[in-house]
Amino acid sequence: MTGFRPPSSPFDGSRPVVVPDVVARKGSGVPLVMVTAYDAPSARAVDAAGVDVILVGDSVAMVVLGYDDTLHVTVADMAHHIAAVARTKPRALLVGDLPWMSFHVSREETVRNAAQLVRAGATAVKLEGGRKRLDAVRAILDAEIPVMGHIGLTPQSVNAIGGFKVQGKTLDAARELVDDAIALAEAGCFAIVLECVPDAVASMVTDSVTVPTIGIGAGRHCDGQVLVYHDLLGFEDRVTPKFVRRYAHLHADATAALARFADDVRAGRFPSSDETYHAADTVSEALGLYGAGANIPA
Ligand code: KIV
Repeated sequence: MTGFRPPSSPFDGSRPVVVPDVVARKGSGVPLVMVTAYDAPSARAVDAAGVDVILVGDSVAMVVLGYDDTLHVTVADMAHHIAAVARTKPRALLVGDLPWMSFHVSREETVRNAAQLVRAGATAVKLEGGRKRLDAVRAILDAEIPVMGHIGLTPQSVNAIGGFKVQGKTLDAARELVDDAIALAEAGCFAIVLECVPDAVASMVTDSVTVPTIGIGAGRHCDGQVLVYHDLLGFEDRVTPKFVRRYAHLHADATAALARFADDVRAGRFPSSDETYHAADTVSEALGLYGAGANIPA
């Protein structure tokens, strides 16, 4: 937890954000802010910025671990990253993503996997899918674990969908999304992520449920917005979806800084004398450390 609270944060910073705080933001006029984080430094930065919810997303597979999709991370991988974020004791609500195949097999396995993420430090879990996943949602809620839903583009379905594509583009598909959202909210999900859907559809979904919707590529008519840390900060230059706004260019900054370091090393400018531990003169003399030809840059 950090002392710094940006003035725009609706929370006073005196206590951690809890699930009912998130639910209460529906209709408050102040959109929720969710950002992903995967390790201690990213969690500290996100929390210090006054973000409401930290999502340890299975996007870790793509933006940190180098996979082409999210299907390769396991519950153990997610627990490892959630634990790193949780160790920073963020004030923001910490939500952990249930990875592919962790909630598809049986109620027992689903609950055990959700519990593993909670024991790693998550306060709530997120899972992808609509009415098809209601059994999993109910099982987790029965174990007193809060659940965030996720519909629209569900990246764990990438092979079934045939790519990362905008969803809900036809009237029927839009109606399906509304029905999915209503079912998830009625089952007890405390918030629902809407990914890559037309803004009119996101608006319809948002108006149809009593819990907050959090959009990513879903336009402004949602109760909140989420972006992936690496996209928002420009750590990833490879693919930039239309909905990403870059607030920094850290990949370019980091590459330029690393190139300067390499130049300094090769030119003998690093390390300088100030960046070097020196033995006391008497010790150096006794050891004969620096001969006549020794030349440490100032
Ligand atoms: O894994 C993730 O980062 C997500 C967000 C894109 C919502 O699910």
